[in-house]
Amino acid sequence: MASLWTWLAAFALLYQLRRFINIFIALRTMKGLPTRYVLFSPVCIAGAIIPISTRWYPRLIEAWHKRDTRYAEFKSEAFCMIPLVYGPPSVHMAAPEVTKTILSDMMAWPKPDIAVTLNELGDNVLTARGDEWRVHRRTVTPAFSTETHIDVWEVTRSLYYQMLETEEWRSGDHHFFKNIADFTTRLALLVIAACGFNMRLEWNEEGSSDGLTSPIDRAVVTVSSTIVQRLNFAWVYKLPFESLRKVDCAWSDLHLWLTREVRTKKAELNNIMKLSGGDKSQYERNVFGQLISASIENKDFSDPDVVGNLFIFFFAGHETTAWTLANTMALLALNPGEQEELYNNIHSVIGDREPAHTDYNDLAPVLWAFYEALRLYPTVHLMLRMPAEDTVVSDPHFVASGKDIVIPKGTITVVDLIGMSRHPRLFPDAEAFKPSRWSSASEASKTAWDYFFGFSTGPRVCVGKRFATFEAVCFLTLILRDWKIDVKLNAGETKEAWKERVMQPDLLATMRMVGDVPLLFTRRSAKA
Ligand code: HEM
Repeated sequence: MASLWTWLAAFALLYQLRRFINIFIALRTMKGLPTRYVLFSPVCIAGAIIPISTRWYPRLIEAWHKRDTRYAEFKSEAFCMIPLVYGPPSVHMAAPEVTKTILSDMMAWPKPDIAVTLNELGDNVLTARGDEWRVHRRTVTPAFSTETHIDVWEVTRSLYYQMLETEEWRSGDHHFFKNIADFTTRLALLVIAACGFNMRLEWNEEGSSDGLTSPIDRAVVTVSSTIVQRLNFAWVYKLPFESLRKVDCAWSDLHLWLTREVRTKKAELNNIMKLSGGDKSQYERNVFGQLISASIENKDFSDPDVVGNLFIFFFAGHETTAWTLANTMALLALNPGEQEELYNNIHSVIGDREPAHTDYNDLAPVLWAFYEALRLYPTVHLMLRMPAEDTVVSDPHFVASGKDIVIPKGTITVVDLIGMSRHPRLFPDAEAFKPSRWSSASEASKTAWDYFFGFSTGPRVCVGKRFATFEAVCFLTLILRDWKIDVKLNAGETKEAWKERVMQPDLLATMRMVGDVPLLFTRRSAKA
């Protein structure tokens, strides 16, 4: 009788045989596309969380480390990656024109299963596909109204002054902060809490911990920073280790809090409607209020859908905005000439008065600096799609031979925003921080705006784009008006070396820096 080992060996052999047949079929279909063989795919959970990365074992971070050579070595703006041992074949894409087509047609290029796992707390607009997505998108879009964006501006401004009142900022004209992202993370969280949930916390105030194991704002930060690991290895967080249990408790707290809030708000609105004969106009007009109102009107939009979407707003809008703000300040500190020009610009628009939301368009150079930081460090560093059918893609920049390529149905297609954001055809002198490339005065600006996908494009473009840019322009305007930002170099260190040391990203669900981003702030009015 065959031993267990014989059975296991036979199973492994059959598994590999099936893989090789699939690989052979995929390669035959994609004939002409440069191919790279690896042992394991970076587009699977192991690829996301294992910290090492080698030629045969590339992790997600390779997109950063080889940002200048990955496509150049094939002389092609797309290549195919074939994992010989584990994971699906994938096509990696830094071709702007084809990418635009892909992102514009969500029926022909839906999100693959691996990209729609963030629905543990409820279905939502980020993970839904097809008709279900339409229901979510139609429901959440009105919540991101002009009124919401004005609220974002006002809340950001108020939080800035509250931040200045904290011990760290209050006294003295010179401050060294070990990690500026601590402040931007707090800001982004409080802005979403206020404008999304009407949870208007002061800078130093803790959120409710009623019936929870920790204050709700702390739970959100824990959940945001453990999202990929917790979604894929939920069982690990049930193990009896305090640090793991804390994470699990934060997830339970957030779910409990959101479910409870939805129930309370729904009862509140039903009550208002009963008293006013169905009139909802007096009800909260923030994001949360709009979703509750939609769930009463639309039977296809259930309570778990409200919870799922609220959760996704916390996730999608929190770290992305926080880190892009931190990166913008770091890049301005590294480029004092650009910073001074921006300061003069801000001064010419607002002088000594407070910036108002109506200044948003006139403060365009602030937005350009934010966009330039997002280009160099795209906080959403990849988007995943797959063709619904075998699909011909044609692009003269794909392969040296210039042939059309067929991407087989279901092949994971990685839209590589790191590769694309530094594309030499779109962004001349791509490594340089040049906010003015976004100005209409610059010849390249039209191409830059047309083919920059940091907020995506097409029907699934980021629904919080204006939310994020209102917050960014307001906060950066205030901080640059009042403070000069510098880097603190170690003895003998150059700025280039500081950048290499500090601006080292970690790629998981989003891009953030591996370590702290330390910056020096000097009050503009300070006596020398
Ligand atoms: C700098 C800040 C931000 C960046 C760089 C960013 C980037 C993106 C990108 C690239 C996508 C497309 C993802 C994909 O299709 O795979 C996206 C989608 C989305 N974003 Fe943002 N985002 C930011 C801020 C926000 C904020 C503040 C919110 C909400 C408050 C938000 C909510 C969403 C949602 C709900 C989606 C899904 C839209 C859909 O699929 O229809 N984002 N974002």
